[in-house]
Amino acid sequence: MVNYKDLGLVNSRGLFAKAITGGYALPAFNFNNMEQMQAIIAACVETKSPVILQVSSGARKYANQTLLRYMAQGAVAYAKELGFAVPVVLHLDHGDTLELCKSCIEYGFSSVMIDGSHHPYEKNVELTAQVVEYAHRYDVTVEGELGVLAGIEDDVKAEHHTYTQPEEVEDFVKKTGVDSLAISIGTSHGAFKFKPGQKPEIRLDILAEIEQRIPGFPIVLHGASSVPQDIVAEINHYGGRLKDSIGIPEDQLRAAAKSAVCKINIDSDGRLAMTAAIRKVFAEQPAEFDPRKYLGPARDKLKALYIHKIKEVLGSDDKA
Ligand code: G3H
Ligand code: 13P
Ligand code: ZN
Repeated sequence: MVNYKDLGLVNSRGLFAKAITGGYALPAFNFNNMEQMQAIIAACVETKSPVILQVSSGARKYANQTLLRYMAQGAVAYAKELGFAVPVVLHLDHGDTLELCKSCIEYGFSSVMIDGSHHPYEKNVELTAQVVEYAHRYDVTVEGELGVLAGIEDDVKAEHHTYTQPEEVEDFVKKTGVDSLAISIGTSHGAFKFKPGQKPEIRLDILAEIEQRIPGFPIVLHGASSVPQDIVAEINHYGGRLKDSIGIPEDQLRAAAKSAVCKINIDSDGRLAMTAAIRKVFAEQPAEFDPRKYLGPARDKLKALYIHKIKEVLGSDDKA
């Protein structure tokens, strides 16, 4: 058993409390390799933002759980070395079983998500409560989910949103003891969220109703990439074949971050940024074969993207 506190990590409880009163959201950036981790930490140190390093079960399989733990420990030390010890949370994204959550906690995660949103309500409550009961023994915080986002979640593809029903949230929070709640109000996972011409809309009215029922309770938004059009164009300019798509407008995310939304998940925009930078090098310097020559620019572009998100969307700069 590795205790996250010995790795220099923190859980999300105190950070969420500050984010709610401060009217900003914490960045939850997914990572599975060194360059992503470096870009996240460098961006957060430069902006003095707390950070949630987020690992999906697929990322855990890809990168290896032991390496990830040392990377998170390294991230804490790296931040200090860069000049500012930002608080770092290591969070399991979309955990689907009690066993997976237990295993992550044993490997040093300070926060886990149990995503029971595809189960019937009672089963979601039961599973989430089991994870909370285990996690709280180790002071690990737990995120639950109510409502289903359109897009791909845990290999389950939902064509349409099932918005979170505000009348369920109070009962869910009370019965499970979760520390935060992911809700479905119009965001969706992946880089292909809406077709150009469609009007993405975060349902701030549903959010407001949820807030009224559980005042001051930390809310999480998944599927919050904005699919920057300049980055998509760059990928396609340098040989990519991404189909046209738009994401969640940043001004809508900014409005949500000012409310009880205190964690915003962004993965796809980072994937797009890395891909654009790598394609550019491959197209312009086809003789290049040193991975540092394309992963380095990818890391720089990622860092710039994260700084933009922190300052212009989340508002978590200077909050560490
Ligand atoms: O919500 C899903 C995240 O973007 C993680 O995606 O399962 O492909 O690592 P992944
Ligand atoms: P995006 O695919 O919109 O980046 O969402 C990521 C996410 O919700 C991770 O849990
Ligand atoms: Zn998600």
